[in-house]
Amino acid sequence: MERTLILLKPDCVQRRLMGRILTRFEDKGLNIVAMKMMQVTPELAKHHYAEHVEKPFYPGLEKFITGAPVVAAVIEGLEAIRVVRELLGATSGLKAAAGTIRGDFSSSRQMNLVHASDGPEAAAREIELYFAAGEICAYSPTVTPWLKADDE
Ligand code: CMP
Repeated sequence: MERTLILLKPDCVQRRLMGRILTRFEDKGLNIVAMKMMQVTPELAKHHYAEHVEKPFYPGLEKFITGAPVVAAVIEGLEAIRVVRELLGATSGLKAAAGTIRGDFSSSRQMNLVHASDGPEAAAREIELYFAAGEICAYSPTVTPWLKADDE
């Protein structure tokens, strides 16, 4: 089992797409084990997007991500980091394949609705940035035996 961090970004919250997008993860059989609505501060944005802080688009990205509440969630499942990234599609909604979340709902490079960790190290770092250990609920939904075989 892997865990990954997602953020439903301000455009997702403002466009009232939270329910439809969370449904895509649930429909896939992934398990939401932590979730909260919160305001990203400029300080948190700089930590989260540390690798982008020096890039020319960072000021616009910070203004966007701090401009309205986000929903942070931890998603758990088999190969969850890759599976969630594939459900999102390419970074730009203009390039993302139809059928992916961004391909279906976004027409922007910046306003691409959802962030997801891009690897195991990023997932561990980002989960710790947004959630205390006690905020993550380890549980096994009763439907689990109908989502995968025991040896998967
Ligand atoms: P995300 O997956 O959250 O990771 C970094 C974010 O920066 C990305 O989604 C986009 O929202 C944004 N981003 C990436 N590249 C660009 C770009 N060239 N111009 C503006 N925003 C970008």
